[in-house]
Amino acid sequence: MSALLEVTGLTKRYSSHGRVVQALDNVSFSIAEGETLAVVGPSGSGKSTLSRVITRLVSADAGSVRFAGTDWLALPAAALRRERPRMQMVFQDPLEAVNPRATVFSAIADPLRIHRLVPRREFRRAVIHLLDKVQLPASLLDRAVHEISGGQRQRVALARALACQPRLIVLDEAVSALDVSLRARIIDLLIDLQRAEKLSYLFVSHDLAVVKATAHRTAVMEAGRIVEIGPTPALINAPQSEMARALIAAVPRLNLSRTL
Ligand SMILES: Nc1ncnc2c1ncn2[C@@H]1O[C@H](COP(=O)(O)OP(=O)(O)O)[C@@H](O)[C@H]1O
Ligand SMILES: [Mg+2]
Repeated sequence: MSALLEVTGLTKRYSSHGRVVQALDNVSFSIAEGETLAVVGPSGSGKSTLSRVITRLVSADAGSVRFAGTDWLALPAAALRRERPRMQMVFQDPLEAVNPRATVFSAIADPLRIHRLVPRREFRRAVIHLLDKVQLPASLLDRAVHEISGGQRQRVALARALACQPRLIVLDEAVSALDVSLRARIIDLLIDLQRAEKLSYLFVSHDLAVVKATAHRTAVMEAGRIVEIGPTPALINAPQSEMARALIAAVPRLNLSRTL
């Protein structure tokens, strides 16, 4: 499998109130086409910074990202605008990216319009098709985003990302706010979409239980560094790092459920 995303030596420091925080410290990994890499770690370990640097929401101090054949972090503005649809991000709170007063229709049609992905007269049909992909009924089209449930909103956020026909979706705690049964259904949807659309995911979570079902490989972060990376089952069954052991211990049924 060829690498879709290749991250090398990513480094990011924040300075605030005279204090320097090393949010990312020489982080390297790759993600293959159609692969899910989970990034897990405690709060403050640098997961969101990693998501934001890779999606170019914040700049890196050092390091490089190769994505879909481009020197991603070096792309100038015009080229970035052109390539941006290929890498999408879904946040924990979908309202962070979508105006709550917007209708479901406009939330999903926005990227079609901005990136000129389909002719205007086909917006409605395209949006209904995208709703169908995330298993939402067309009857939601004219509802305001703030009126629908949290689970539905997260599906709308996903449909909005899929509108761009991305190769990679970065999900930063995207299912963390949902209750357990909703979460399981979104995870099933993500797995189905991955197969149907040949997507890769960078799946960020503080909770190993969430990534267990989705991630082919898992990276464990601690204080801005990747302290362990490997196939998810091996990492859960035979963790090598203290941090992986601590994250596993935080989910008592994690190992047990494998044999049920
Ligand atoms: N904009 C910022 N300014 C200053 N420090 C920040 C900023 N964003 C994150 N940090 C710090 O960087 C470290 C990593 O944060 P973050 O990437 O949000 O971790 P995580 O998502 O794993 O909880 C933390 O110490 C956090 O306080
Ligand atoms: Mg975070």
